[in-house]
Amino acid sequence: MRKQIVAGNWKMNNDLPETQLLIDALKAKKQTSTAEVMVAPTFTNLYQVFEAFKTYAVEVIAQNMHFAENGAYTGEISAKMLKSIGIETVILGHSERRAYFNETDELLAKKVDAALANDMRIIFCFGEELADRKSNNHEAVVESQIKKALFHLDAAAFKNIVLAYEPVWAIGTGETASPEQAQDMHAFIRKTLANQYGDDVANSVSILYGGSVKPNNAKEIFSKPDVDGGLIGGAALNADDFFDIVNAF
Ligand code: 13P
Repeated sequence: MRKQIVAGNWKMNNDLPETQLLIDALKAKKQTSTAEVMVAPTFTNLYQVFEAFKTYAVEVIAQNMHFAENGAYTGEISAKMLKSIGIETVILGHSERRAYFNETDELLAKKVDAALANDMRIIFCFGEELADRKSNNHEAVVESQIKKALFHLDAAAFKNIVLAYEPVWAIGTGETASPEQAQDMHAFIRKTLANQYGDDVANSVSILYGGSVKPNNAKEIFSKPDVDGGLIGGAALNADDFFDIVNAF
């Protein structure tokens, strides 16, 4: 059975005191589902949140990393640095990184290699823009994003990869892909994986949906057979909403 995962991407939100408030609110919540729960704070608060959840079933993960081990890359953070504070999982390829920080498929392939070389787990994000969907090009775009960043890997690497389909037009917009649109795309992604690596790999990789997942739509989206969880933005900043989504499984 595939892992069910609900991950909160806090993006560039919450300073140190605000982060402490969110930690306290999250600690007061009760999980009734068996989904793996993760939160991704900003770099400055990673260690604080990691320490806070050490004895909780909440994994603290990073939003990004650089591909180099160390060196003259002002402002960047390496896998080794993340690992040294206990972080084992990193989000790569988020559409905001692609759009605002010019992260290309080629760069992402290097980051993927660096994370795997450091025994890290990856939540690899991709997704089409509205124009791609309107021109019925969404599957081709997603297929290309996955192939360029991941298909140089061997099958064994997929033990450490979680995929996150996040249609750009649904992120932070309040507009969600319908459960059917999410299911269709997730099935397509799984077929793409199966064609390259076989059914065993394809059926073992968790595929998360992200884009305006809220307490009122999570259950229906998560009920789809190829949707193995969610990557949550805005709603992850509120402990009640986040745990309603975690418990939607
Ligand atoms: P929203 O849930 O705010 O749409 O953000 C989704 C997302 O980008 C998670 O990485």
